[in-house]
Amino acid sequence: MRHLIDIMNLSVNEIDEMIAVAKDIIANPGEYSEKCKGKKLATLFFEPSTRTRLSFEAAMYELGGNVIGFSEAQSSSAAKGESVADTIKTVGAYADIIAMRHPKEGAPVVASYKSDVPVINAGDGGHNHPTQTLTDLLTISREKNRLDNMTVGLCGDLKFGRTVHSLITAMSRFEKVKFVLISPDELRIPEYLKQEVLVKNNIEYVETTDLEAAMPELDILYMTRVQRERFFNEQDYMRLKDSYILTPEKLENAKTDLSILHPLPRVNEISVAVDDDPRARYFQQVKNGKYIRMALILKLLAESQA
Ligand code: NCD
Repeated sequence: MRHLIDIMNLSVNEIDEMIAVAKDIIANPGEYSEKCKGKKLATLFFEPSTRTRLSFEAAMYELGGNVIGFSEAQSSSAAKGESVADTIKTVGAYADIIAMRHPKEGAPVVASYKSDVPVINAGDGGHNHPTQTLTDLLTISREKNRLDNMTVGLCGDLKFGRTVHSLITAMSRFEKVKFVLISPDELRIPEYLKQEVLVKNNIEYVETTDLEAAMPELDILYMTRVQRERFFNEQDYMRLKDSYILTPEKLENAKTDLSILHPLPRVNEISVAVDDDPRARYFQQVKNGKYIRMALILKLLAESQA
């Protein structure tokens, strides 16, 4: 049984193939409209979501399939004390594929051990978010026509931001990608990522607190929200939440072909005045999320039937 728990579950070749399928879906949507006829996707969201859940659901509908699920733990038997393992066994009796988001790091991998159908990690705590990364990679590929040879700035909450962790891990496998890690000292990327991904693979990176100084060399600027729900106390959140606010003035020294991305939701970290800048690509990124999830559903269902 094939699951997607961590972006490393996919080879670079498989990622390239899925990006190609997503681009074909964009070009020829009609050819895919019945590919999942008779199939059901279950979305099990134990944590809030707008884009991830709805893009999974829209993806399955556009493939001609159906969707079941819940969007908060309180409306499922988790509220009665049911284990994730039992929930997954149950849902596998009704659905052909499961997308699951959970506040506990590792919950989706545990679920996958018990599941009779493919499980997709739709975000586990502050750990990983592989389908956002696929979205990000499709977006970068469409914007730049490549996934290698570029300088990627990641800015904001690099400690708790799961999208950042998965994206760094994924992009470390492409040639000549340099990372500029821009965050307050307290919100730097976790040590395990630094050691096991960046240092181990000899990836070029710098850590800085200064967004404006880093700006001129960036090809991609990936802004992130400070992850309030992962903080231990509100005071620290209040102190750090507005560390970076991207404004048109701060973009004055940026490359003309910079792409500004954000997994969204945005709080304050990108001023709405930036939205009109042609380099702001985060709403295009939202659209890409549906197409790459269509490609992922197709792949996992095909492999589970093989
Ligand atoms: C992200 C997440 O849930 O990790 N949102 C998303 O899925 N696009 C980012 C965030 O919540 O800040």
